[in-house]
Amino acid sequence: MSSPNSTKGLHVITWGCQMNVYDSARMTDVLAPLGYRPVESPDAADMVILNTCHIRDRAAEKVFSELGRLRLVKRERADQGRDTVIAVAGCVAQAEGEEITRRAPYVDIVLGPQTYHRLPEMVARAARAGGKVIETDFPAEQKFDFLPEAITAQAVPGASAAAPGLTAFLTVQEGCDKFCSFCVVPYTRGAESSRPVASVLAEARHLVARGAREITLLGQNVNAYHGTGPDGSDWSLARLAHALAEIDGLWRIRYTTSHPRDMDDDLIAAHRDLPQLMPFLHLPVQSGSDRMLSAMNRGHTADAYRRLVDRLRAARPDLALSSDFIVGHPGETEADFEATLQLVRDIGFAQAFSFKYSPRPGTPAAGAPLRVAEFVADQRLQALQALLREQQAAFNADCVGRRAEVLFTGPGRHPGQIAGRTPWLQPIHVEGGESLIGARALVDIRAAATNSVSGALIGGARIAPSQTSEVDCLQPALEDHRA
Ligand code: 5AD
Ligand code: SF4
Repeated sequence: MSSPNSTKGLHVITWGCQMNVYDSARMTDVLAPLGYRPVESPDAADMVILNTCHIRDRAAEKVFSELGRLRLVKRERADQGRDTVIAVAGCVAQAEGEEITRRAPYVDIVLGPQTYHRLPEMVARAARAGGKVIETDFPAEQKFDFLPEAITAQAVPGASAAAPGLTAFLTVQEGCDKFCSFCVVPYTRGAESSRPVASVLAEARHLVARGAREITLLGQNVNAYHGTGPDGSDWSLARLAHALAEIDGLWRIRYTTSHPRDMDDDLIAAHRDLPQLMPFLHLPVQSGSDRMLSAMNRGHTADAYRRLVDRLRAARPDLALSSDFIVGHPGETEADFEATLQLVRDIGFAQAFSFKYSPRPGTPAAGAPLRVAEFVADQRLQALQALLREQQAAFNADCVGRRAEVLFTGPGRHPGQIAGRTPWLQPIHVEGGESLIGARALVDIRAAATNSVSGALIGGARIAPSQTSEVDCLQPALEDHRA
């Protein structure tokens, strides 16, 4: 075995949401003092971490098939006298820890999402004992108090190697107490908790000092954020956003994922008052039927969602909305599904994710009667996705003629092009030099496709921070999508 100070290879495979991307970067950081450095391939890795997601179908099977491949790698490396530590992290680890060590006895470490700060100790224990380490408790201490400063840039879709860390994630809240009927999160990520304000602000300043210009605040229920402020009082997400907006050099703030129940007046007002808060909101509704929303234990009605969107749009007329939908939840009738389509038509989404219900063991819906037949759920999913695609294309088409500030994150698909994101999170391509990567500039949006837009730089000039308020991106266009 190599000495504790020599450099070792670390290969992390990440599934699932942005929170897992963030966690993978933090696990990389926590292992750096032990000499672990990221490597591209498991063959070169002294440690492989599978950071897993359990939210929908076949997650565990994907993990087991990857583990099957890693078993061969581990065996080959052992033949060459090299050890390979295999760790399974994330929500599958949390939910199926025992099953993992039973089916894949060559796994050395199984760790739940709340124990990443203990990883170095687990690695040492696994090496010493040559045995299994399973850590899937919810420890009393907060892992964020024990994690080092963020060093590893997260691989963000849309960001390129040319500008690593330009757009960064920052976890501010974890866990969930809402217990939606279908969801494993309250069981795998545990009770809802928020990071203290000082620690969030310190990490944000650190990210900005290292080049971040856009920060996306993460949490399973991010708008339920209630971190302890420096004065001992509870801060809301709105208050946190105001404090972040004061950081020099931080141009853009986003947050995800929000729950309709936690969308308070201050946060709505922040969308009106803070130019740094981008006009894009991911606000899952799941269904447009009150009967289903009640069966799902969502705690809001379809009309409450409509009214909330009205208030948000009154505060920020160009707000682009995104959502999550589930079709085929137990008990869903054709009328319930039609109510979902109607809600979609009423709101007009800029983009959305839609899923076929997948039973998760241990959740209330998994044992519910009146399961929807697969082929019915398939048909509903197709119909919903067709409508959502239409709306996304319509939203992008509506942006043609708008002038928007774009943050350029990397080269475009073709030579001479650069790519970035609009305030509404659309990928955008323009003709331009790579010197603009990492900068923001005003762009006239000229053409639209289903998933992206393209445009032309206005005078090719970069925008100085003081010019932000001149950006003309407030054309209220979303109303046009209402049926
Ligand atoms: N089946 C299908 N979709 C699910 N989601 C969560 N749990 C399930 C499930 N059991 C979806 C929800 C949630 C998104 C992250 O994943 O729409 O908002
Ligand atoms: Fe899951 Fe519902 Fe909590 Fe979202 S609010 S994480 S869907 S239980």
